[in-house]
Amino acid sequence: MKLLKQALLITAIVFTKFPCTAQKKIAYEFPKEMLPEVKQEFIKQCDKGRILYDMNCAKCHSSFVRKKEIIPDFSPDQLKGYELRVSNAQHEADMPDTKVTAEELGEIMIFLTYKKKNAK
Ligand code: HEC
Repeated sequence: MKLLKQALLITAIVFTKFPCTAQKKIAYEFPKEMLPEVKQEFIKQCDKGRILYDMNCAKCHSSFVRKKEIIPDFSPDQLKGYELRVSNAQHEADMPDTKVTAEELGEIMIFLTYKKKNAK
């Protein structure tokens, strides 16, 4: 009985400490020379960017393979070009649903830059 209680307690702790890591885990790839403090900051930005991406971009850009989300690997040039164009009226007209602030866009760009590349 005591063992069962302990097992339950451990399960509870594991679930509160790591909520839904299994379903939303996305690894990021940072340059090796990036300092640990800087990396921590980038991880925070990437996590925010990922949520913003899901809210604003995923419905047009993500595809699903057996319920697994595939986020496209945009090249640095594509991202730079996109960031420049997104303030442009014509692109805005092509993508009427995209309403993100400059700061949010920056976080999405960081996320897309450092997200782990898809397996080929
Ligand atoms: C309503 C659908 C739609 C939404 C929402 C959308 N996009 Fe796009 N996006 C497109 C289409 C269509 C293109 C290709 C046409 C173009 O380049 O203008 C594109 C192009 C791009 C490109 C350039 C790819 C290249 O080949 O250069 C990037 C990067 C991009 N989108 C990122 C984003 C991000 C980041 C968001 C969220 C803030 C987003 N998109 C939201 C439809 C969408």
